[in-house]
Amino acid sequence: MKNPTDPQHVAIIMDGNGRWARQRGMPRSFGHRAGVESLRRVVRHSANLGISYLTVYAFSTENWKRPRREVSFLIGLLREYFRTTIGELHAMRVRVLVIGDMAPFPADVRELAEKARTQTRLNDGLRLQIALNYGGRADILQAARTLAAQARTGELDPAGIDEACFAGCLHTAGLPDPEVVIRTSGETRLSNFLLWQTAYAELVVAAECWPDFDEASLERVLAEYRQRERRFGSVRRES
Ligand code: IPE
Ligand code: IPE
Ligand code: MG
Repeated sequence: MKNPTDPQHVAIIMDGNGRWARQRGMPRSFGHRAGVESLRRVVRHSANLGISYLTVYAFSTENWKRPRREVSFLIGLLREYFRTTIGELHAMRVRVLVIGDMAPFPADVRELAEKARTQTRLNDGLRLQIALNYGGRADILQAARTLAAQARTGELDPAGIDEACFAGCLHTAGLPDPEVVIRTSGETRLSNFLLWQTAYAELVVAAECWPDFDEASLERVLAEYRQRERRFGSVRRES
């Protein structure tokens, strides 16, 4: 059952796959594979809880710096995820799309992502955004470029650029800002995730590595969120 004070939009920095694997004496790839299972579980539970939007950080603009073998493995896993999970997402009426610049990914992976988007675009359940080759700064830059091009042609008056107009050019156009950002594995950074959109998000750090983050972890985070007092720069309302 949905609690009226629950967030509409939850964003997750899925971190700690490598450490989870290392703790088990296994290669990092083992952790990434377990991370995909965790994602399946959390998407399913988010849909069951009635969360409207879920955005997950799966690959950052900086993750290309990792060893080539790890990047290739992650791309392979992504391909497998789209191939094997899209049916399940569709059956749950999840609408899925990628945010980020897919250009550097292999053509077949780009096609799978596009197929997932078109196949699920009319679904009325959870909206799942998978952030791939996503960076908050890159997102802001591409929005600035779009607006500058419109200003140059005279289509747009620069004085008319307000927050709504700017937000409408970001990859998350049309989505409400996330009320809560969860980062797993105890790290306390945003690592270039949704920089504009998280201006007033509540940050919740979960100690467990991403593969261990389960239904109970999500519910614990939501319970913590309900305890937060969100003031948005104002002062506490006297009762
Ligand atoms: C998150 O886990 C997955 C990606 C960033 C792709 P990590 O791979 O960052 O795992 P740690 O942080 O090294 O443990
Ligand atoms: C952030 O995690 C990116 C994703 C979870 C996709 P990283 O593991 O890449 O971030 P840093 O390097 O610890 O900041
Ligand atoms: Mg990490």
